Amino acid sequence: MSTERTLVLLKPDAVQRSLRGEIIRRIEAKGYDIVALSQRTATKEELAAHYAEHEGKPFYDPLVTYMAGGPIVALVAEGENVIKGFRSLAGGTNPTEAAPGTIRGDLGREWDAPVIQNLVHGSDSVESADREIGIWFPNL
Ligand code: TYD
Ligand code: MG
Repeated sequence: MSTERTLVLLKPDAVQRSLRGEIIRRIEAKGYDIVALSQRTATKEELAAHYAEHEGKPFYDPLVTYMAGGPIVALVAEGENVIKGFRSLAGGTNPTEAAPGTIRGDLGREWDAPVIQNLVHGSDSVESADREIGIWFPNL
C-alpha cells in the first residue's frame, strides 16, 4: 500500500463549463481525500514552472495562453496510488480517444484549436507530484 498525494488542476474549460462539482465528485467517490483546494487565475510564471517539461513543443505557447485565460482550480488529492488512479479517472489526453467512463471521455470536447482543452491535469509520477504541489501550494 502506498499513500500518495497528487496535484490536480481543473483547467479553465472545466471552470467555465461549471464542471468543478462533477469532477470533484468523481475524485471523492473514488475514495480520495482532498487536502488542499484553491481557485485562482494562474500567472504565466506559475504555468511556465508547471509545464517546464513541455517548453519548446508546438503546443506549449497555446497551452500556457489557454491555461492563463481564466480561473482554474488547483487541488491536492491524497490516497492509495492516487497518482496513477487519478490519471485513470481522467482518461487519455485526447478527449475523442479517452475511454467512456473517464472525465475526459465523458465530459471533454475536442476543439478546433492548436491546443487540446481536456478539462484536467494530473501529476504523472511521485517526482512530478512533489514538484507541482510545491508550485501551487508552497506552504503545504
Ligand atoms: P501531456 O503532459 O502530454 O498530457 P497529459 O495532460 O495527459 O499528462 O500534455 C500536457 C497538455 O498539453 C495536455 O493535457 C494537453 C496539451 N497537449 C496538446 O495540446 N497537444 C498535444 O499533442 C499534447 C501531447 C498535449
Ligand atoms: Mg502531463
